[in-house]
Amino acid sequence: MKDKASLFAVLLDLVQSIQAAAIYPEQHPRVQALLNRLFVRIGQATGALGTLHLGIIGDHFVVDEFPFLEMNPALTKLLRDLREKGMEKISFRDGLTPGELNRFISFLATGTEDGSGRKWECISYGTIQTIGAAEPLPVGSSETLPRSHLLFGAADILKSILTALAGGGGGKPVTEGRDIVRSVMKGLREDASLIHRLLQLTQHDDYTLTHSLNVCAIVVAQASTLGFPEERLQEIGLAALLHDIGKERIPAEILQKPGRIDAEEFARMAEHPALGANILRKIDCNSDLPVIVCFEHHVRYDRSGYPKVSCREPQHVVSRMTQIADVYDALRTNRPYRKGMEMDTALSIMEKGKGTEFDPVFYENFLRTLLAGQADAGT
Ligand SMILES: [Fe+2]
Ligand SMILES: [Fe+2]
Repeated sequence: MKDKASLFAVLLDLVQSIQAAAIYPEQHPRVQALLNRLFVRIGQATGALGTLHLGIIGDHFVVDEFPFLEMNPALTKLLRDLREKGMEKISFRDGLTPGELNRFISFLATGTEDGSGRKWECISYGTIQTIGAAEPLPVGSSETLPRSHLLFGAADILKSILTALAGGGGGKPVTEGRDIVRSVMKGLREDASLIHRLLQLTQHDDYTLTHSLNVCAIVVAQASTLGFPEERLQEIGLAALLHDIGKERIPAEILQKPGRIDAEEFARMAEHPALGANILRKIDCNSDLPVIVCFEHHVRYDRSGYPKVSCREPQHVVSRMTQIADVYDALRTNRPYRKGMEMDTALSIMEKGKGTEFDPVFYENFLRTLLAGQADAGT
């Protein structure tokens, strides 16, 4: 008997496994746990059906013969990426081994095969026209899936990390935050246009997640041009990634308000740096930098902004870099109350703040980093 719910569970586990595999190494416990679960589910389905077909029709997935109608951003993204690659149908046959499944998920997550040249034994894929045809699309073509998989997976995993940290959990979530920073750093090393890909990732339903990743990538890119050593870059990236963690304590009605927030709501919102610093103070991040950056990221170069600071010392250099990246990403992104600006418009507005709102030296460096990335992206 066909159990619709378990067939749909295969699809949901598939998307989660791809997201995790885009971020973590294959041996990571999160990846292993998801792959094991997926393997068992596929095994149950192929045990009953012989072959499990997963297809794309219109804007939906179809598992076996059942259309799955409850799309979410992760599934929509997967659907688009698969379709771009002509993978409108994936078939898993009875006899699939954990090794082949792991290899396939890693291929979907990274867009690259492991280089061993091994053929797919129990998996085939192709365009929808090939359903029932004996010949699936040749596998192992050199085309790669968009790397934005990595970023999309990171947004979802970041969500659980931020929630865990805001709830007072340290240790594991901090390590996982570092894993994301490592992925971002790796992405930046391999693909200089990553920042631009990131900044196009505006469709995630949670603004803070994509924003945090964007700010992290911009700050790491800025810092790497300044010659910080690798280890320090990780610490800087983690601080930038967590800069808005205080928003976890701001009511969703304010964060997601469709119109502009009023003065009272703004006052509440302005508490997020101090709230975030308090959260991070209680967590062992192996560094004070996340606390400092979180507290200072809305303090402007001329010390206006919030929270009010009385000392005459300039903000930490990483706070100054984060503040610039933060404003840029906020201007570029679609918000409920206005459309995201074009890069030129955002930069022309920011230019006026050079020397007052923004540290002029870091602003120039930010500009160079951004324009270099843009040239690499060929936009
Ligand atoms: Fe903020
Ligand atoms: Fe922010």
